[in-house]
Amino acid sequence: MDKKTKLIHPKRVTFSGSNRPLIDPIYRSVKYTFDSLEEALADSHNDNFFEYSRDKNPTTFQLEKSCAELQNRECAVATSSGMSAMWAAILANIESGDRVLLFYESYAPTRKMVRQKLSRLGVKFSIVSIQNEAEIENAFALGDVKLVIYESLTNPMLFIPNHDLIIKLAKKYHAKTILDNTFLGLHNNLELEVDFFVHSLTKYANGHGDAMGGIIIGDKENLNQVRDYAVSLGATPDPEASYLILRGLKTYFVRYDIQSRTAQSIVNFLSNHKKVSKVYYPGKESQNFDQLIRHTDQFGGIISFDLDVSEKELFKFCDNLNIFTTAASLGSVESLVSPAKLFFGKDLKAEELAIASIGSGTVRISVGMESEDDLISDLSQALDQL
Ligand SMILES: Cc1ncc(COP(=O)(O)O)c(C=O)c1O
Repeated sequence: MDKKTKLIHPKRVTFSGSNRPLIDPIYRSVKYTFDSLEEALADSHNDNFFEYSRDKNPTTFQLEKSCAELQNRECAVATSSGMSAMWAAILANIESGDRVLLFYESYAPTRKMVRQKLSRLGVKFSIVSIQNEAEIENAFALGDVKLVIYESLTNPMLFIPNHDLIIKLAKKYHAKTILDNTFLGLHNNLELEVDFFVHSLTKYANGHGDAMGGIIIGDKENLNQVRDYAVSLGATPDPEASYLILRGLKTYFVRYDIQSRTAQSIVNFLSNHKKVSKVYYPGKESQNFDQLIRHTDQFGGIISFDLDVSEKELFKFCDNLNIFTTAASLGSVESLVSPAKLFFGKDLKAEELAIASIGSGTVRISVGMESEDDLISDLSQALDQL
């Protein structure tokens, strides 16, 4: 054989006997082959049969299995980002003429997807406040809601939904439910009878701010159609990203635990500070706290709070922080700060901002893995400068 051919078809490195790597390799191969086409056809329905990386990849499949296990569900479909996960979940469950129910308090790109993009395809929507039960009931009473999209703690203001009400009404009216569970993490809300959990894996799952991913988790039957859409959209993740997220997941519980504890100490500090007019973080007085506490006593590392200042002064406050870095993400090892209106409320009108409780002095922070004392000192010095 010529060297040119040998270079492309080299002798494979194999392992001797039971010798094997402790950490799985990243399966970069786009294509998967077989010795016999007949054998391949017979095997092609098996879970561990691979053909083409956009359809299925062993590294990504491992990520899907780990996430489904954490969320106590049968299976999962991983995607290239939280938003592509949301698109695949939504497209698989609506048709032109259907109505989607969503909430003013939701993550802005999800809100924009439904209000601005799906409506162009003939999908109707009702948008109400997650805090207003009468409005939720009225929306369902329209009779054509086919899909409800909501968040386990809303981004950015951390409101707790009334799961009991939403799930009961969704069942009554035969609507599917998508719960974006990113803020409470893959290990929480296990017993909720929602059809789909969606997560941005870019956040707590990866935890290091160096890979993007998303996932839809649910029962096999519900997920077949979702996988079909994810594959057709080409929204599957690169195996390198799947690997990084799998690596991040190994320290997931430790990080979520420390970030939740540090956040609680920061909430205590902010609640007693005279320049902070209101803190938004789950607590005994929060609406629907009884439902949250049934599932978890840790609420993650995101906190929002109001300062009685103009937007310009709020920007200065963000700039004056030394450890908290101004950036729009969350759930990573570095602590971040985001002015809420600028980063999450640009699409909302004044009255909608008021419903969502986002004011000119509202700020969201994401607590990382730095020392609690350093983070509190940093906030303290920036508050003193106001
Ligand atoms: C609650 C929530 N859902 C979905 C997303 C979208 O995730 P991604 O940025 O991975 O697309 C985000 C991103 O911040 C988020 O906070």
